[in-house]
Amino acid sequence: MNSLMQPTRMGELELANRIVMAPMTRSRAGSDGLPTTIMVDYYAQRASAGLIITEGTSPSADGLGYCRTPAIYSPEQVAAWRRITDAVHARGGCIVVQLMHCGRVATHHNKPAGSRTLGPSAIAAQTQLFTDAVGMADTDVPEAMSREEIRQVIADYRQAALNAREAGFDGVELHCTSGYLPMQFMSENANQRTDEYGGSADNRARFTLEVLKAMAEAIGPGRVGIRFCPGNKYNDIADSDPAATFDALLRGLEGLNLAYLHIMRAHTRKVDAFAEARARFAGPLIVNDGFEPDTAREMVDAGRADAVSFGRHYIANPDLVLRIRDALPLAQFDRATLYSPGPQGYSDYPALNEHSLEALT
Ligand SMILES: Cc1cc2nc3c(=O)[nH]c(=O)nc-3n(C[C@H](O)[C@H](O)[C@H](O)COP(=O)(O)O)c2cc1C
Repeated sequence: MNSLMQPTRMGELELANRIVMAPMTRSRAGSDGLPTTIMVDYYAQRASAGLIITEGTSPSADGLGYCRTPAIYSPEQVAAWRRITDAVHARGGCIVVQLMHCGRVATHHNKPAGSRTLGPSAIAAQTQLFTDAVGMADTDVPEAMSREEIRQVIADYRQAALNAREAGFDGVELHCTSGYLPMQFMSENANQRTDEYGGSADNRARFTLEVLKAMAEAIGPGRVGIRFCPGNKYNDIADSDPAATFDALLRGLEGLNLAYLHIMRAHTRKVDAFAEARARFAGPLIVNDGFEPDTAREMVDAGRADAVSFGRHYIANPDLVLRIRDALPLAQFDRATLYSPGPQGYSDYPALNEHSLEALT
């Protein structure tokens, strides 16, 4: 039997197989960060994944940064997410929400009135973001967070984790890569602080670990995962010694008993991220980036990972599990509709049915 099809347990999460849907921002949410009906269809169609990790979802109004991205801080948002988790559970799926605070990777054009753009230091990210209002826009210069504001943001994550449970999610994943707030704290360029949150690798990892502990305390560690990618420079992140930063994080994770560690392949020769994670993290490991069905299976067969997450293959293959199980061809997605509003190129990719299967044989 294909080892990817074996069930597994990650903390409190029960996965029917080892194929995980990686988190993907698709910009189909409504105004005010509200999940929409087409998002119900999209996630329900993919419920056969062993675990769905949703798109990055903001724990607060301040944490929003991109256009049409969802959030989970208001009662209306919680109620709208509930329709999604109910639909996924009705089909036997397991789903966690990825909590993504954009920090300085944000423009006020994409944020509700009255919200703020915060970061470890008042240093803007050298990048631009798409907005519906004005097209490409510079990122805001963030306000450097005070200690009190750090405590507040940690409290926001904690409340978002509680909201996630109220919305029916099986757990949460902390987005700690790709240049968003936790990664900004972990970096050497976005974080120029001189207090206990800046300077040494241990200090730079402190914010992330405090967020994880607060969420684990609120909903149980077996329902909290973390995503990380040592050496990821995306969204203007600099780190001269990613191995030391990763080491600080891995030491901090010891004894927390989190549900899983989700590692993206590092595009740096300075760290062998998968091997390091496998050797030093005691819990379940999900690996990601560039996997195909055969290479994914090799990872699980060899015991180098417990599960593999697929991003791009999930865009046009809602029934990816079936296609991998039966070695059926994978459909290609259309780049033009990745972030466009509406169902086209989103919830209208068909699953293989009897008719299409016949045509294949
Ligand atoms: C359209 C798109 C949106 C993405 N959005 C997110 C996101 O919200 N959070 C995140 O952690 N990664 C995000 N990613 C990265 C994916 O989770 C994944 O790491 C990446 O696609 C590589 O895996 P793959 O080779 O299986 O596609 C996104 C990727 C794509 C293609």
